[in-house]
Amino acid sequence: MSLLIDTDPGCDDALALLLALESDLDVAGLTTVAGNAPIEDTTRNTLALLEFLDRDRPVARGAERPLVKRQDTAEFIHGENGLKGELPDPTCEPIDISGAEFIVEKAREDGNLTIAAIGPLTNLALALGIEPDLPEFLDEVLVMGGAVYAPGNRTPAAEANLHADPDAASRVLQSLDPTFVGLGVTARATIDPATLDLPGRRGETVESWLTYYPEDVRERYGLEHSPIHDAAVIAHLTDGILTTEERALEVDTGEGPCRGALVADEYGVTDEPENGRVATDIDVERFREALGRAIESAV
Ligand code: BDR
Ligand code: CA
Repeated sequence: MSLLIDTDPGCDDALALLLALESDLDVAGLTTVAGNAPIEDTTRNTLALLEFLDRDRPVARGAERPLVKRQDTAEFIHGENGLKGELPDPTCEPIDISGAEFIVEKAREDGNLTIAAIGPLTNLALALGIEPDLPEFLDEVLVMGGAVYAPGNRTPAAEANLHADPDAASRVLQSLDPTFVGLGVTARATIDPATLDLPGRRGETVESWLTYYPEDVRERYGLEHSPIHDAAVIAHLTDGILTTEERALEVDTGEGPCRGALVADEYGVTDEPENGRVATDIDVERFREALGRAIESAV
C-alpha cells in the first residue's frame, strides 16, 4: 500500500507526519493545503518537517483557498506561521505540479493508493475535477474531520477541517467513500509529554508540538493535554486503533449555523444509503504507544 498525505501543518499534522515517516508505511508523497495557516506557510512547514525528520519525499503545493468561501486560518492555536518549534527554513522546493495534479498522478501510477487527508479537503475535490475516475485508483480515503460524536471545535456544530471547506468535503463525500475520523475520537488522542524521553533541542521541538494548545483553549475544551487529532488517522494505518462504522453521511454546505457540520444517520432514520464511515471508538493506549515509540525514535 502506498500512502499520500494531504496536510496543513499544523502541530498535530507535524506529529502525524513524524509517525508516518518513522513507521513502515510507504509514504509516496505529500500535498499541502491552506488550513491552519496560509499555503506558503503550510508548504514551507511540510518541507521543513521532512528535513527535520531527514526524509526525502515529493511535496506538491496545493490549494491556497477553499472552493467557495473565504479562507480561515488558526495560527492562534498552532503558532505564528502555523507551526510551533521554529524549524530552520527548508533547503528543498515543492515539485512543479499542483497538489491536485499530484494526487491524480500518484493515484493513476499506483492504482491502489491510500490517502490520509488531515487538512481541509480542497485538493481532493480539485483532483476529482481533473480525474472523475479517481475513485477507481484509490484503495482508501481517511479524513481527519467531522464532529458527529462531539461538539464542533470551529463552530458549535462543525470541526475545523470540514468547516474550512464544506463544499470540498461534500464533493469528496459524494465520490470517494471516505472514512471520517472526527473529534469524538481524536479529542481523546492525547499523550502526556512527561511520559516520554525528549532530550535536547529536538526533544524541545517535539514537546512544543505535543503541548500546542494555549492553556485557555485547552481549559475551554476541558482537556488535560493537547489533542493530536491528525496522528490518530496515521496510527490507525500503522496499528489499527480505530473502530469504524458505515453511515449515511452528509456535509452541511448551507450558510446557517451548521455550515461544515458532518451529519450521520446513526439510527437509519432516513432511507439514504450508507456512503462512508465514521470512527466510533479509539484504542487510546495503543495510540499512545505508537506515537510515543515514533517520537522517541525521531528525537
Ligand atoms: C483539525 O484542524 C486542524 O486545526 C488540525 O490540524 C486538525 O487537522 C482538527 O479539527
Ligand atoms: Ca491538520
